[in-house]
Amino acid sequence: MNKQLLNRREFYALWVTLGSSLLALSSPSARAATRTVKLPDGTIVPALGQGSASLGQGRRPEAAEEEALRTGLSLGMTLIDTAEMYGDGGSEKLIGGVVAGQRDRVFLVSKVWPNHVTGNGVARACDASLARLGTDHLDLYLLHWPSRDADLSSIVAAFESLRAAGKIRAWGVSNFKVSDMEDLFRVSHGDRCATNQVLYNLGNRGIEPDLLPWCERHGMPVMAYSPLGGAGTSLLRDPTLARIGAAHNCSAAAVALAWTIRNGNVIAIPESGLAEHVKENAVALSLTLTSDELHTLDAAYPRIHRPTVRTKCIGCGWGDAGGAASIHELGPLAPDPSQTSRILTAPGPLPPSIMSTASRCPSDSWVSPARLSAEACSKMSLPPRSRTMNPNPLSELYHFTVPISSAAA
Ligand SMILES: NC(=O)c1ccc[n+]([C@@H]2O[C@H](COP(=O)([O-])OP(=O)(O)OC[C@H]3O[C@@H](n4cnc5c(N)ncnc54)[C@H](OP(=O)(O)O)[C@@H]3O)[C@@H](O)[C@H]2O)c1
Repeated sequence: MNKQLLNRREFYALWVTLGSSLLALSSPSARAATRTVKLPDGTIVPALGQGSASLGQGRRPEAAEEEALRTGLSLGMTLIDTAEMYGDGGSEKLIGGVVAGQRDRVFLVSKVWPNHVTGNGVARACDASLARLGTDHLDLYLLHWPSRDADLSSIVAAFESLRAAGKIRAWGVSNFKVSDMEDLFRVSHGDRCATNQVLYNLGNRGIEPDLLPWCERHGMPVMAYSPLGGAGTSLLRDPTLARIGAAHNCSAAAVALAWTIRNGNVIAIPESGLAEHVKENAVALSLTLTSDELHTLDAAYPRIHRPTVRTKCIGCGWGDAGGAASIHELGPLAPDPSQTSRILTAPGPLPPSIMSTASRCPSDSWVSPARLSAEACSKMSLPPRSRTMNPNPLSELYHFTVPISSAAA
C-alpha cells in the first residue's frame, strides 16, 4: 500500500488535528498542534482520549455525562475507552447514545472481562458490547486483565477471528506486566497486539523501569489509565502542578495529562462526567511542558527504579511480583467474611498492613470486602505504606496487596 496516501482513519485524525488546532488558535492562549500517537498498524489516534468507568451509572444526570463526552469529542478527544464491566454495560449504553450519528468520528475502545474468554465467550462478549454501543465494529478490543480461565493462544485466536469478521479493527491487552507481554508475544500472532492499557500517572510511575521501555522497543504505545491519579486523587491539589498550570494559563489537571503524554508513545484516557473538567483536560492535547517544568515535576514525583518491596494482590496476584496467586497459596490470609466487610467499609484508613491500589481487581469472586479478616490483617504485621483509600464504599473494586513474602508465595 502506498504509505503516502492517508487511509480513512488517518484522514480523520488529520481532520481532528486541524480542527482542534484551529480551535486552539482561536482561544485566548494560542497553543501548538494537537498531539497524536501512532498505533502499530499505522492508525493515528489523539494522545488524549476519554475514560468512562463510572459513567452511565447514575453518578450524575445522564445528560451531563453525555454533554461531557460530546465536549471531549468536539475538542479532539475522539478516542473513548469503555468496557463491558463498567456499570454492567451502563457505560457502553451511554456511549452508544453519544456516538450515534457520529460513529465515524470516534475511535471506540472496549474490553472483555477475563471471566468471559472461554469457549466462544470473547465473540459473545463482543457482540453484546457492539449491541450496547449501537455499532457494528470496535476500533480496538482489549482483554481487560490477564485471564486464568483460558490460555493466551485461544484468546488471541478469538481476537483475530473477530478482526477477520470486521467486528474489531485491532485488539490489545490491559494490565499486562512485562512477563505477560513476553508470554503473549510467544503465541501465534501475539505480536499483533496494538497496545497495553495500564495504570500510569505522575504519582504512579511504576511502568517506567520496565514495561514502558519494553513497549517502546516493540513499537507499541501504552494506554495510560487513571492519568489524573484516579477518583479522589490528591495529585490535582498539588501546588507544584497548580503553579506550572498558572504559567500556561491552564489547570493542574492539564499539566498532569500533558506530563503523561509528553513522549509521544502514551495515550491518556482521563475520565470526567463534567464538561467543564473535560475542557480543562483537552488543553493537554496542545500543551508542551518545558524541560525546566519536567525537571520540577521529576523532583516532586521521582522516577522509581525498581520496587524495593515486591507486592501482589491477595485476590488476583497482580502486583510488582507478577504471577497469579491461587486461593490455596493465600489460604493463611483467609477471611472471616463479616469482619472483613466491617474493616474495609468502615470509615477511616485501612489497617496499615493492607495496601490498596485504585484499580479494579478482576477476581471479584473472592477479593471482596468479605475476604479479609482482622485476624488476617494482624497476621501480616506489615509496615505502614502509602496507599490509596478511596472513600468509595465499593472498596471491593480495589486490589489489596501485600508483600509477597507474607503471601506465602
Ligand atoms: N484497564 C483497567 O483496568 C482500567 C482501570 C481503571 C481505569 N480505566 C480506564 O481509565 C479511565 C480513567 O481512569 P480513572 O477514572 O480511574 O481515573 P482518572 O481519569 O485519573 O480520574 C478520574 C477522576 O478525576 C476527576 N477529574 C477529571 N477531570 C478533572 C479535572 N479537570 N479537574 C478535577 N477533577 C477531574 C473525575 O471527576 P469528575 O467526573 O468530577 O470530573 C474523576 O473523579 C477510566 O474511566 C477507564 O476508562 C481502566
